[in-house]
Amino acid sequence: MTSNAQDDPRQNRNLPNYPFDELISSGRLLYYPCSGKDTRFPLERFAESIDSFWFVDLRYEKDLRRPISEFDVPCHSGYEVEARTKMKVYPEIRDPFVALRCQLKHSQSGRRLEVLYLSTDAVGVFQCLEKFQKRISVFCHRRDGISEGGSNLWWLHPDPAPEGAPAFLERVLAQVEDRGTIVSDGSNALPEFGTSQNNGPTNFSGPKEIVFNRFRLRSEGPFDQQCTRTIGWVVASIAETKNRS
Ligand SMILES: C[S@@+](CC[C@H](N)C(=O)[O-])C[C@H]1O[C@@H](n2cnc3c(N)ncnc32)[C@H](O)[C@@H]1O
Repeated sequence: MTSNAQDDPRQNRNLPNYPFDELISSGRLLYYPCSGKDTRFPLERFAESIDSFWFVDLRYEKDLRRPISEFDVPCHSGYEVEARTKMKVYPEIRDPFVALRCQLKHSQSGRRLEVLYLSTDAVGVFQCLEKFQKRISVFCHRRDGISEGGSNLWWLHPDPAPEGAPAFLERVLAQVEDRGTIVSDGSNALPEFGTSQNNGPTNFSGPKEIVFNRFRLRSEGPFDQQCTRTIGWVVASIAETKNRS
């Protein structure tokens, strides 16, 4: 994290007292802030490489028609829900925190993974990942915006943030593991990440590489056949890249 971002109150919340000892597991983590209903694609794309999926949205408990405890986990081929646990509500926190943890098992291989739906502020959860030094293997964010309904959180834009909104790119890059992946359609991001700010052609024609501070991101091209603006970027620190070549 840059010292500017650390000191800037816009870039931080009061660190919530989440029950992280109950939530963090040792496996590979996918973090998707402001995920809304967009949970099927990450599960299908990363079920074989991710152990713990964290979907975070302020409105999971209130607005998705059904209480969070009744959410359907999109069924990925071969996986079945083994257990569902609704975690505690922590009313002392400004933004109530509700979590649903679903454990899935592959019927043939026996592989297990978990899916967490966290109904709370995604910035606070991200700060907890930083505090507990939990690296992110896949950071996923797309189809967001700054108009009504959008989060106005610039997850993939550097400081200083446009129009004073919080921006997190440097912190996200620092939290993603070496050779980890950022999935983006360019929303609330540096323009280089994609083309989603307009609703034009979906063919990716942007750069194949982004260099930002000490990080080099290489494009893996369209990730989601249903939404070809969604691009995967493999993150490496420039020092690492030099050591490997
Ligand atoms: C434009 S929607 C995008 C949803 C999703 N990414 C998709 O592809 O459908 C933005 C979402 O961000 C959520 N949101 C806004 N501010 C948030 C915050 N501080 N923490 C968590 N979620 C937030 C809203 O509830 C909303 O569901």
